[in-house]
Amino acid sequence: MGSHVVEFVGSFPGEVPATGLPEIAFVGRSNVGKSSALNALLGARVARVSSTPGRTQAVNLFRVDSSWAFADLPGYGFANVPDHVRAQWKELVERYLRTRDPLRLVVVLVDHRHKAQPLDVEMMALLRHLERPSLVIATKVDKLTRNARSKARHVLEAGLDAKILPFSSETGEGIDEVWKTVTASTKSPAPRR
Ligand code: GTP
Ligand code: MG
Repeated sequence: MGSHVVEFVGSFPGEVPATGLPEIAFVGRSNVGKSSALNALLGARVARVSSTPGRTQAVNLFRVDSSWAFADLPGYGFANVPDHVRAQWKELVERYLRTRDPLRLVVVLVDHRHKAQPLDVEMMALLRHLERPSLVIATKVDKLTRNARSKARHVLEAGLDAKILPFSSETGEGIDEVWKTVTASTKSPAPRR
């Protein structure tokens, strides 16, 4: 999809301001490749790759092509994080997912090489409970052989009870499909909450 016009709206540890745009959120375990995926999707270097895990307990908001807001949510599952940070994460992310009015799609990133992790399963359950539409993208698929990837796909999809989209920030695989889903999701009417 080429490159996009991206403006950083801000980093919000509490209340996230209204943008008037349909919003797409990105969630996933720390180190899953979230920043890389955002950069690949936007054709721009907007998110810092491999920042110190667990430090940013805030929603980072970007305005994209004056058409969408992309919300980069703090990653989960990092090791050695004090309980109060974990609690803060839960509070921030759950409140956002529960209440965010313009949210149209939650892109959940998982690592294609691993089976579904408990926190990923938990996230999927939360999204189903909240009736939030989601798209699971399985990152780093370029690191798998053809054989390994079909096996890994079955394992992941069974564990998450959801279809996955193989994705690679390195090769660009999956980028067009993500954009198709983003575009389609923002054409649907606003959910009533
Ligand atoms: P945190 O913000 O620290 O939670 O990590 P993140 O989820 O934003 O991951 P990030 O994009 O920083 O990537 C983590 C590491 O994985 C980096 O070394 C990336 O270069 C690598 N990586 C990310 N995506 C891919 C991919 O699709 N393929 C390959 N081969 N490496 C990737
Ligand atoms: Mg990151």
